[in-house]
Amino acid sequence: MYSVIAVVALMASCSKTDPTPVPPPPPPPVDPCLGVTITPVAALTHTITGQSLGTITVTSPIGSGFTYSITGVPYQPSVNFFGLAAGNYTISVKNASNCVGTKTVTINGYGPKFYAVRTIVNGYCGPCHLNGAISGGKNFDADTDVVNSWDRIKIRAVDGIPSFMPEAPNAQLTAIDKQKIVDWVNAGHRITD
Ligand code: HEC
Repeated sequence: MYSVIAVVALMASCSKTDPTPVPPPPPPPVDPCLGVTITPVAALTHTITGQSLGTITVTSPIGSGFTYSITGVPYQPSVNFFGLAAGNYTISVKNASNCVGTKTVTINGYGPKFYAVRTIVNGYCGPCHLNGAISGGKNFDADTDVVNSWDRIKIRAVDGIPSFMPEAPNAQLTAIDKQKIVDWVNAGHRITD
C-alpha cells in the first residue's frame, strides 16, 4: 500500500514539460599551432641587377613534413629556390599540421663585376672569412665588408703580397678569377660596378 503511494508520487513529480537539460558546450577546438613557432632561416645568393640569378636556400627548419614557399611560388618539398630577380621575398615554411612561419628577405641587385667578385669570395674565402669567421680580422659576410676591403682583397688574392691566401684546394685563384677582381677594382670597386 505504501509502495503504491510512493510510485504515484514519483510519477506526479516528473512532468513532460520539464525543460530538457542543456548539454555542456563542446570543448573548444584544439589549435594544432598553439605553442608552435616556426622561424625560417635561409641562405641567399644575389643577382646582377636586371637578371634573375638569385637563390634562396632554407636551412632551418628542415625535415619530414615541412614544405616551403616564397612569394609567387607555391609550397614545395624542396628548400631551394633559383632564378630570382632582385627584390623582397617572403619565405613561408609550413609543417605537417599546416602551421606556418614566415620571414622576409631581400635579394640584392649587383653590378656585374661585383657579382663576379662576390661569387669568388663566396667560393674561395670560406671557411676562414665567412659565416662569422674573422681570420686576420677580416669577415666577408656582408657586401660592405667586401667593398671596404677591396684593396686588401686584391693585394692578398691577386698580388700575393706578402703571401697568397690559401684558397681551396690549396692553390691560388685562377688567372681568370684574379682578372675579375682586377676588373672590379679598376671599375671603381663598388657594389654597382
Ligand atoms: C684557409 C683559410 C683562409 C682562406 C680560405 C682565406 N684566407 Fe684570408 N686569411 C687567413 C688567415 C689565417 C689570415 C691572417 C694571416 C694572414 O694575413 O696571412 C687571413 C687574412 C686575410 C686578410 C687580412 C690581412 C691583409 O693582408 O689585409 C685578407 C684581406 C684576406 N685574408 C683575404 C682573403 C681572400 C680575399 C680570400 C679568398 C679569395 C681569403 N682570404 C681566403 C685565412 C684564409
